[in-house]
Order: sequence, then C-alpha cells, then structure tokens
Amino acid sequence: MNFADLDWRILDRLRSTFLQENFSPAAYWQSHRDLAQYHVTFGERIGWKWDAVLEELRNIEWAPPAGVDTLIDWGCGSGVAGERVLRQYPQLQRACVNDASPLAMEFAVQQIRRLHPSVEARPWAGNNAQGCVLVISHVWNELSTEQRVDLLKLASTAAAVLWVEPGTHDTARDLQTVRDHFRPAFDIIAPCTHQAACGMLSTGNERHWCHHFAAPPSEVFISSDWSRFADRAGIDLRSLPYSFLVAERRDESAPPRPDNGWERLLGRARMSKPYARVLCCGVNGLCDTEVTKRLHPEWMKVFKRGEEPRRLQITRDGTRATQIHPGPPRPAPDSEAESDDQG
Ligand SMILES: C[S@@+](CC[C@H](N)C(=O)[O-])C[C@H]1O[C@@H](n2cnc3c(N)ncnc32)[C@H](O)[C@@H]1O
Repeated sequence: MNFADLDWRILDRLRSTFLQENFSPAAYWQSHRDLAQYHVTFGERIGWKWDAVLEELRNIEWAPPAGVDTLIDWGCGSGVAGERVLRQYPQLQRACVNDASPLAMEFAVQQIRRLHPSVEARPWAGNNAQGCVLVISHVWNELSTEQRVDLLKLASTAAAVLWVEPGTHDTARDLQTVRDHFRPAFDIIAPCTHQAACGMLSTGNERHWCHHFAAPPSEVFISSDWSRFADRAGIDLRSLPYSFLVAERRDESAPPRPDNGWERLLGRARMSKPYARVLCCGVNGLCDTEVTKRLHPEWMKVFKRGEEPRRLQITRDGTRATQIHPGPPRPAPDSEAESDDQG
C-alpha cells in the first residue's frame, strides 16, 4: 500500500480514536485495511522514533545479549516496532507478536514474513519473556492499571526490554518510574548514561520529563504526500517527541558497567543570543546547563542547527559549561544490518 491509496475515512477514525481517553483496542482495528493505512502513516512516524532509538543503540555499540534469538513485539499493532528491531539485529531469528486484536497479530506476522523471510514469525500469548527481547511501543496509555502491572511482570522476565512511548510529560515520567523499578535486576542501557536512581524523579524536578526528538528522513520534507497527510491529520512533521527505555537483564558474573562520565541531553536546547540552555542528565542528576557564546561559539552553532550529539562530557563552573567533549559520534547506517533480509 502507498500514499495514493490513503483512505481518510479510516485514518480520521483511527486518529480520533487515539485521541480518546478510554477506548477498546479491539474496536479500532476493524480490518487489514485499517492496519495497512496505519502502517504507512501513523505507524511509519512511530518507525522514525524507533530509528532514532536504534541509531543511539548502534552508537553505544549495544546489541541484544549473545544467544538471545527471539523477539516479542507486545501490543504489536501493524508490527512496525518489531520490524525495525529485526532489521537492526539479524541475530533475532524468531519473532512473536502479541496484541489484543487477532487481526493485528495476523497483519504483523504477514509483514515480518514478507520483509524477513528467514525469520520465524508467529502470534504469541504467553506470560513469560525469558531469554527474549521484549519490544513495547505506544501501548502504555491504552492499558488499565491491572494490565500495566501484568506487562511489568512480563517485562521483568525478559533478557532485554526495548520500549518506546510518546514524549508526553505523564507517559515519560511513568517510563522513568518503570526504569527505577527495573534497576535492581537490569542494567539501564539508554537513554541513561548511568545506573543511579533517575534524577528526574527527585524532588523539585516534577516539571521535567525525559524526552527526546527524532528527525524524520529528509525526503519526508519534500514529499507532497507527507505534507498533505500532515495537514489533514493536524500533525507537525518536524516534531517527533518520544520517550524510551532500553534495559538488559544484569549478568551478575560480569563487572559493573563503568561510568564514563557522559551526560545525556534531554529535550531541545533553548537558544537565546548569549547562550544556549541544555538540560543534561548524568550520574549526579539533572543540570540545566548554560553554554555561552563567549566560551563555546562553535557549540552554539551546533545547538542552533540541532546537530548536537546525544551524549556529552561537560565540565562546569556552577551551571556554566567550561569544557564540552562530545560522546560517541553518530555512526553511518550499519550497511550489514540494513541489507538483511529486505524483501
Ligand atoms: C497505538 S497501537 C501501537 C501499535 C504498535 N505497537 C506501534 O507502535 O505502532 C496500540 C496497540 O496496542 C494494542 N493493545 C492495547 N491493549 C492491549 C492489551 N491489553 N494487550 C495487548 N495489546 C493491546 C492495541 O490493539 C494496538 O494494536
């Protein structure tokens, strides 16, 4: 399916359903056509968030633990999240999809079989993710308290959890709380650069939330199809806020992860003429850091263009940055992973 076949009756219904507070997930997938329409539009936008997360994981050279070959995409919808993860990690040769909607599971299995013929794909309804990578995407807001508790129980059995949600204040702070809940048994891989308690959750930081912005592929901005879609759906294509969590079950026999002093930049830099303000998170908590034009003219340009690395090492005098060193550079796309199994 492509943009020429967009059906606005379906897309309008899906959009208004997503915006409702309480709705039944089973009700919004009424046919494969619904899922196909979602997949190339709203789903693809979610795919761009996953691209940003997976790029960050490549950047810090993280991959699922050795020997783990199974992915579970929980609340799979059209399967966009699981598919993006399979694309990056060829070691994952089994894909299990779960959803409240049997139609969604069917659709997601078909997508995976088409794009990754060598991967064994099937619906799944288990309650144990032992030895698996658990993928969760844009589902938290649809769950009752009881369902959330069950999902966390499932997550606590996984070998690794890759979780992406919208970048809203409440959802992001929920994910931060989940992060701290995982800490006793899991290493926190991203977005955090450290294993200490989440600084965002400490008193006084209630107004902040751990969120990030993904960039859509550049061709989207010159596509009349995407521009029409954005107008009609009331979406700003440039703004793709997301929150996320990547955690890996701790190997108690391995040495603790070293603290390399990196800090993670959150949200966007706030620019004024003499300085940029950047909210940074590290092992010592949050610091709203001032990067002045006088000391760091080159960094001011980087922040203005929105090209700053996600991780930095910063030396400060109070909250003013005196020295800034970039973390690992953003790598070129991994050609081996990208060419895997693309049908
Ligand atoms: C907004 S869609 C997101 C789909 C997909 N994960 C993505 O990122 O594009 C939420 C999905 O969660 C599913 N869902 C909602 N409640 C669920 C539950 N209790 N168990 C399993 N799936 C659920 C819905 O059927 C729907 O497919």
